[in-house]
Amino acid sequence: MSQTILILGACGQIGVELTEKLRTIYGTNRVIASDIRNGNTLSMSSGPFEIIDATNKEAILTVVKKYKVTQIYLLAAMLSATGESFPEKAWNLNMTSLLAVLDIAKEKHIKQVYWPSSIAVFGPTTPKNNSPQKTIMEPTTVYGISKLSGEFWCQYYHDKYDVDVRSLRYPGIISWKSSPGGGTTDYAVDIFFKAIEKGTYDCFLEENTRLPMMYMEDAIDATIKIMQAKSDDIKLRTSYNVSAIDFTPKELAVQIRQYIPNFSITYSQDFRQEIADSWPNTIDDSEARKDWGWSPTYTLSSMTEEIVKNLLAQKNQY
Ligand code: SER
Repeated sequence: MSQTILILGACGQIGVELTEKLRTIYGTNRVIASDIRNGNTLSMSSGPFEIIDATNKEAILTVVKKYKVTQIYLLAAMLSATGESFPEKAWNLNMTSLLAVLDIAKEKHIKQVYWPSSIAVFGPTTPKNNSPQKTIMEPTTVYGISKLSGEFWCQYYHDKYDVDVRSLRYPGIISWKSSPGGGTTDYAVDIFFKAIEKGTYDCFLEENTRLPMMYMEDAIDATIKIMQAKSDDIKLRTSYNVSAIDFTPKELAVQIRQYIPNFSITYSQDFRQEIADSWPNTIDDSEARKDWGWSPTYTLSSMTEEIVKNLLAQKNQY
């Protein structure tokens, strides 16, 4: 069935690339990009674009009716590090937007919802290695608390109101076309830009901090794959663990040095270290593999090669 898709938060790190990919699959005019303000020029100019505050249910509904939207991807959120500076704002944005979209689906204005959760749902008491799908979850950030609560709201709306909502627990997402904002895993994107610009990077996490990560291409694939899966195959209506790669800042620096031999890294930990320390090192994603056939493509080395080559090519164009 052909879909008409609304993306809330289309100018953010994932939104930019997801908008581009969905427009190639479903057609430019069938993917409505939106954000709270003007932002990324690609998302705004490559097809329909609307200004929407994702916490305003009526504003969302107006656009849903205008374009006869069938699916909403809700990507607007405040991430872990920024959320610690603005706890109430983070809670309000992350929860009000989710409940607005779930209500719109409950009222049958749309057929399907995608909403990302995160490894931030885990906490210091979760087993660190191969963290299971179902395990101890005692998050210590407002972002993590909002994502864990959101997961149970998704399950509740599915079970009580038959809402077809699907979700992934993203690890840190590594991209080069769009920048992240306000996350604890952002160092793994910044490092590439600084390596190319200056040949040096001062990392806010300590050298041996291992975190689960994923290249953007894989994150987009996983997102589209879970949304295109048969509803019966989606056995979990909270959110699925998905994993791809894991590394430490030191290991990433070694990879970058293969292309930029003089690259140097220093370490100046800040408050984000505590957040990173509360999260898993690696994630067990066997349920996603079993239920809807998830498997990642990129390794740490193939991802590093692709990012560095693209950034160098971009730099040489100017
Ligand atoms: N990338 C996110 C963050 O660091 C985790 O989901 O906040």
